[in-house]
Amino acid sequence: MDNRSIGVFDSGLGGLTCIPNLFHELPEERVIYFGDTARTPYGSKAISTVKAYTNQIADFLASKDVKMMVIACNTISATCLPELQQRFPDIPILGIINPAAQRIADICTEENNIGIIATKVTIASGVYTESIEERHPGLNVHTMATPAFVPLIEEGIIENEIMDLTIRHYMDSFVRENQLDTLVLGCTHYPLIRKNILRLYPNLQIVNPSYEIVARIHQVLKEKDMLAVNNDRENVFYASDLSENFVNMIQNILKTEKSDLILKFKNLDL
Ligand code: DGL
Repeated sequence: MDNRSIGVFDSGLGGLTCIPNLFHELPEERVIYFGDTARTPYGSKAISTVKAYTNQIADFLASKDVKMMVIACNTISATCLPELQQRFPDIPILGIINPAAQRIADICTEENNIGIIATKVTIASGVYTESIEERHPGLNVHTMATPAFVPLIEEGIIENEIMDLTIRHYMDSFVRENQLDTLVLGCTHYPLIRKNILRLYPNLQIVNPSYEIVARIHQVLKEKDMLAVNNDRENVFYASDLSENFVNMIQNILKTEKSDLILKFKNLDL
């Protein structure tokens, strides 16, 4: 048993999409969330920059004595996971890509045409394709970077024709030319536009890695006998820019009132 909090982090608010399911599946667990809202997006930055920012976040979470770190960001998982695991050998650190790849490997066959949409850095890393190929060789995987989604989502431009046009701009030919039947939301911001995607492409089977990561968290905590019991700690949400927009989005995603949230500002540049 271990009632310390789980550190969950992302470049911004995308990682929050993992939290409702985490609380649902593991109601005794508590989180310390960090969203680097001042420096988002990471997905179009140089890998050296993503690594430098990530090390600052991980140092911050380690200073809070978290029992586990969850990289609720595909971009960081694609570029920093092995280094972080080496840097903190005593803290279990989970990336979000491998559990999602395992899900694809489990549910898809050679008959499927699988599309992966993600940031430029995630797609360029090739990590999704490699991880799926390792688990289920021979699957048909097509990838595409969709970099305009994250800035729009961070701005709260979601239920809106600008978002729908942006989705169609990227996806119409991607879906048609590859005859996609399955789509992986390879960025933790994208579950926030899942409904738009389904409305525009109702026949796609959507894989949302925000669910797969929670199953993996459960499995690892159980194996290590670190599940929380009768936990009286609080959840705490840090952001490097506590803008009004972030505060609105966090309330929407967690379906809670601001007065029920512990929100804190933490600028890692200082
Ligand atoms: N939410 C992040 C991901 O899963 C990154 C978005 C970004 O900062 O570009 O890749």
